[in-house]
Amino acid sequence: MGSVWAYEGRRVVVSGGGGAGMGAATVRHLAELGAETHVIDLKEPPIEVAGYHQVDLRDPDAIESAVDAIGGPVDALFNCAGLPGGKFSDFDTMLVNFVGLRLLTDLVSDHMTSGGAIASISSGAGAAWTANIAKWMPLVTTNGFAAGKQWLQEHPREIASGYAPSKEVIIVWTVWRSFELAKRGIRINCTSPGPTDTPMLPAFEEQVGKAFMDNYPIPLGRRATPDEQAYPLIFLNSPAAAAITGENILTDGGTMGAMAVGTLDLSAFALISE
Ligand SMILES: NC(=O)c1ccc[n+]([C@@H]2O[C@H](COP(=O)([O-])OP(=O)(O)OC[C@H]3O[C@@H](n4cnc5c(N)ncnc54)[C@H](O)[C@@H]3O)[C@@H](O)[C@H]2O)c1
Repeated sequence: MGSVWAYEGRRVVVSGGGGAGMGAATVRHLAELGAETHVIDLKEPPIEVAGYHQVDLRDPDAIESAVDAIGGPVDALFNCAGLPGGKFSDFDTMLVNFVGLRLLTDLVSDHMTSGGAIASISSGAGAAWTANIAKWMPLVTTNGFAAGKQWLQEHPREIASGYAPSKEVIIVWTVWRSFELAKRGIRINCTSPGPTDTPMLPAFEEQVGKAFMDNYPIPLGRRATPDEQAYPLIFLNSPAAAAITGENILTDGGTMGAMAVGTLDLSAFALISE
């Protein structure tokens, strides 16, 4: 067996691996580690990869065609694609961030054998997931893309604001799905970044104001970079994380932990909401 960190000879799929955000950073590092990388995104990947599929995650047929074209076996899936809400409707945000992500995961995991791994990007915006498990289980347990889409259409109040709900659902589904996948030796985890300097950040500034994002309290004192979000994803999908599944890892520079134990000065939040 090679190094537990190595991706030599491993076939991986990265959704959201186009453009210049966390998925693109993941693609660049996976190339350095020797992976055979297949990208699914609306935008082109930052480097030459084994395969690029221009797919809209709102389109189940396009997702299915891309997965068929990639074929198997697949060792790891990175779910990095996402919409920031705001100018995108609640429905589209939920459809891309959860229902499309889930279909891609179900189809790709059919090409995985024991040792396969899945890592998705949720967000600190999903931090209330533990309080909302009962609310989201009916969506999490819908069977397939069409049923998930119909649930969204029938529950506009539950999905109001789009982004935070979509991120809560990713975490609830990750924890729930891990149990069945574990029987096949497949692991599934997610990360919850705080503010990170990617092409998506201006969309958050538009939604909540630049001052809010500038003053967002981060114990480490600064926003993360896309590379710093790629590293934990690559770790989670490597054999080095073989004992980790059904986990949500906070990659937020300490914000949520500090809020939980009250060490964070919440007046920073109060100031910026004035
Ligand atoms: N940037 C932040 O501060 C931050 C914080 C927490 C979580 N996140 C999450 O991190 C993930 C990566 O975002 P990012 O910050 O790197 O931004 P980004 O905009 O660079 O990356 C998102 C990618 O998703 C792709 N995408 C969007 N809609 C799609 C669709 N319908 N079909 C296929 N691909 C689509 C985009 O083309 C883009 O390449 C997202 O899920 C985002 O919600 C971001």
